[in-house]
Amino acid sequence: MSMIVRRLSRAATAGLVAAAALTAAAHSAEAADTLGSAAAGQGRYFGTAVAASHLGESDYAATLDREFSSVTPENEMKWDATEPSRGSFTFTSADRIVDHAQSQGMDVRGHTLVWHSQLPSWVSPLGAQDLRTAMNAHINGLMGHYKGEIHSWDVVNEAFQDGGSGARRSSPFQDKLGDGFIEEAFRTARAADPAAKLCYNDYNTDGVNAKSNAVYDMVKDFKSRGVPIDCVGFQSHFNSNSPVPSDYRHNLQRFADLGVDVQITELDIEGSGSAQAADYTKVVEACLAVSRCTGMTVWGVTDKYSWRSGGTPLLFDGDYNEKPAYGAVLSALGGSGGSGGPGDPGDPGDPGDGASCTATYTRTADWSSGYNGQVTITAGAEPISSWTATVTLPAQQSVSSLWNGTPTWSGNVMTVRPSWNGTLAAGASTSFGFTAAKNGSDAAPTVGTCTAS
Ligand code: XIL
Repeated sequence: MSMIVRRLSRAATAGLVAAAALTAAAHSAEAADTLGSAAAGQGRYFGTAVAASHLGESDYAATLDREFSSVTPENEMKWDATEPSRGSFTFTSADRIVDHAQSQGMDVRGHTLVWHSQLPSWVSPLGAQDLRTAMNAHINGLMGHYKGEIHSWDVVNEAFQDGGSGARRSSPFQDKLGDGFIEEAFRTARAADPAAKLCYNDYNTDGVNAKSNAVYDMVKDFKSRGVPIDCVGFQSHFNSNSPVPSDYRHNLQRFADLGVDVQITELDIEGSGSAQAADYTKVVEACLAVSRCTGMTVWGVTDKYSWRSGGTPLLFDGDYNEKPAYGAVLSALGGSGGSGGPGDPGDPGDPGDGASCTATYTRTADWSSGYNGQVTITAGAEPISSWTATVTLPAQQSVSSLWNGTPTWSGNVMTVRPSWNGTLAAGASTSFGFTAAKNGSDAAPTVGTCTAS
């Protein structure tokens, strides 16, 4: 069978892959002026979904190769693409992506093994026993072919229902095999490629809600019973109906606290300009604030090929120009931004005397005894390399934690300086957050002038 031949030849190239990855890592330490290298400086990967059909477009490939350190095949590893008829595997398109990624020293995320969508028509009519056999054979076929070459696999995708119930979604797997299909898929996957991290992946699980609670309970149960799971993927498709949740970081952290890595797997945010940039900043900051958030993947290179192209949700426009969101992500990752030269915040020759910033406050969460506040710092017309903001709290209130900033105190005045997020491109934003106890006062803090250098 050709599959076996290909499997052996893929495995033989694994040593070369490791060498290429080392080269990429060494390179990234020198110049943090791309998404991948800036993320590497934070110990993270920065990836994108890729379509094999666009790899021949030179601007597409150039942008991909320059900026990203990980790829996820957008459709090419799905069941309908890889096993269109039972037992007959086709890997041509997926192999193109994996080969390309390896030639560039990029990681590959495998997406996805068991999903109700993009399922070939032969699967749904199978009876329970046959479906179980087919599911395991599919996992073994895919994971065997790419054994040792995939950083993380989305083993099961979107198995929970939307809405308030926290129930499992109806699918051939759920309806015929019951809740246990997820556990079985993970156990089969671990045996098929012990080196791959095994993820559960879903959408509308980005904040705390009934759906994410249900996934949380499943992961907790898996960890307590030794079912092999290493990571949870948060798709993070955002738009005005589904904005970046204010408790995003908290939600990532609570999953991480279960003992799994968390990954942002399909990020896109509809919009444009500074509002879109600010939302991207929030997402990157949330991931960086969670030590087990190991990386981020945007769901495409350019707006023109996005699955939601009308919403222009990505970092590069249709002509591969960097959008404001690109600069925001790069600066949130601590990158030095753009093409360098005069005005580049990383340039030691910059006088920085035009540096300025503004600070704005919002309450992002509220409960009877406390609240979360967020202060967004936005650079003025010049790039800045550091900022200082003061926040005066009502006398009764006290701050129990603060993230993405370093506070010093004088009475009830808190002076906050950057932790890792001092460098901002012109017009770019970062933010710090804090949790305060009200102690009887619900009044808002006041934010003083922002100073920048
Ligand atoms: C999308 C692709 O981007 C489209 O090209 C395809 O037509 C449909 O699937 N959740 C997932 C992804 O897990 O696989 C989906 O990708 C987007 C939603």
